[in-house]
Amino acid sequence: MTATYAEPAEPASQIDLGDQGGAGELETLTVTVQVRRYLPEFQEDAYWDTWQLEMYPTDRVLDALHKIKWEHDGTLSFRRSCAHGVCGSDAMRINGRNRLACKTLLKDLDHTKPITVEPIKGLPCEKDLIVDMEPFFQSYREIMPFLVSNDNQEPTRERIQSAAERERFDDTTKCILCAACTSSCPIFWTDGQYFGPAAIVNAHRFIFDSRDDAGDMRLEILNDKEGVWRCRTTFNCTEACPRGIQVTKAIAEVKQAILARSF
Ligand code: SF4
Ligand code: FES
Repeated sequence: MTATYAEPAEPASQIDLGDQGGAGELETLTVTVQVRRYLPEFQEDAYWDTWQLEMYPTDRVLDALHKIKWEHDGTLSFRRSCAHGVCGSDAMRINGRNRLACKTLLKDLDHTKPITVEPIKGLPCEKDLIVDMEPFFQSYREIMPFLVSNDNQEPTRERIQSAAERERFDDTTKCILCAACTSSCPIFWTDGQYFGPAAIVNAHRFIFDSRDDAGDMRLEILNDKEGVWRCRTTFNCTEACPRGIQVTKAIAEVKQAILARSF
């Protein structure tokens, strides 16, 4: 996901409401947004930039960032694509907590104080709110995030699975690879080698899939000193996940599966 800017849908604060037939005027609010800037081609150190914006309470933090970029400072850089919580490209630290900018409404934040926006932690910052996601995706690739079948024959029909078998890994199918969990994990901050919660969640998704035949291989990969045993059950990942996935529970289930196999 490399897109940093394209002409997207207008935020609510830029839509000309015209005659909406009795909806009345929407009240705006003044918000102060502080963004952690990093422009390595001009300045070695990161610094804070501040803007005061007139926004609607129903605008999202992403709308505020768009307003800054389009109306105040075109050099501000951040990733986003879908703007609706699906693509996972706009995870950032908002008021010190990992969230998706497109899912965070201004009315849900305390706008009597500045709203702070920073890049997620633990991954190298490339520019402003854009981090290098390669270490994150490297861990993801290592757990083999695809269905593996020992049946070498080309299937002639779909692989049948009961509703209960599908339910077993339903929660971990919801991951959008936003990295909010992994970049909220203190073990990942201090040890960049740790697989991190997102990779384990995606391993879980296949380990507990009755159609998959590589569960033992994935468990062996995660039964590593940089694997599941680094998790200290701090629950930061579960709190950070914008999809509501029980991340810590999934990690615990993978640990139990490894112990049950006794490698
Ligand atoms: S588990 Fe949740 S927080 Fe982690 S990458 Fe997936 S969607 Fe994002
Ligand atoms: S822009 Fe796609 S999840 Fe926020």
